[in-house]
Amino acid sequence: MSDFKFPSWRQRLVRSLHINRSQPQSKYFQVASISVDGLPKNRTMVFRGFIPDSLNLISVTDIRSEKVSDWLSTTPKKFEICWYFAGSREQYRIAGHVSLVSNDTLKDENGAHSKRQSAFFSEKFLHQQWANLSRGAQEQFLWPSPKAPFDSKVDEADIQTKETNNESQVNNSANSNKAESAFDINDHFCVVIFTPLSVDYLNLKGSPQLRCLSDFENDWLEAVVNA
Ligand SMILES: Cc1cc2nc3c(=O)[nH]c(=O)nc-3n(C[C@H](O)[C@H](O)[C@H](O)COP(=O)(O)O)c2cc1C
Repeated sequence: MSDFKFPSWRQRLVRSLHINRSQPQSKYFQVASISVDGLPKNRTMVFRGFIPDSLNLISVTDIRSEKVSDWLSTTPKKFEICWYFAGSREQYRIAGHVSLVSNDTLKDENGAHSKRQSAFFSEKFLHQQWANLSRGAQEQFLWPSPKAPFDSKVDEADIQTKETNNESQVNNSANSNKAESAFDINDHFCVVIFTPLSVDYLNLKGSPQLRCLSDFENDWLEAVVNA
């Protein structure tokens, strides 16, 4: 897709990431969903890159988390990202639709909706994202259910048992060259793909400040508006 011309906001965002690259927090954005009861819900997530040659942003989460329940209970699965780059004093508000990829959704894809299969709804893609995580980040998917009451008896030992089981799976499969990462993909692991449909860009530097709106419907043509 080399002749694909990226919209201005996407080019700007890549530049913002580059300018702010020395600040680890520049990879964190706030993501809003709408809960089943119609209330807004907001949380921090880590930006894990773009799907190559596309506008889609990648993040990962636990399939047991509330945001996943929010998205699974609505069609389309709506999000808004709010992303502030302190170094360059720029804010991006990106809204659109979410897609989820996990062991479970791949089973569904292979069944009823197999026609929708694409490279990003494949085991290979899920595996790549899993392998990109540090061991510590992979271990979080072995933790007890998010938001369940804290049980001090479910402690390190329990998690370590699960780790050992996982590692022996890896060792068993090592001869068949299957597993590249520390653990097999955990069933709780979920890749979140954000497909932008509109972007509101604000640059606080300068007077007056610069604000640009664009959306998919209008071929991402930018309108410069008052801040
Ligand atoms: C700096 C930072 C980065 C985070 N990154 C993620 C992330 O990439 N994915 C994620 O699911 N939660 C991440 N979290 C935790 C979420 O903010 C949130 O607490 C958790 O996902 C539960 O949210 P939910 O109940 O709305 O689903 C991060 C939190 C912080 C403070």
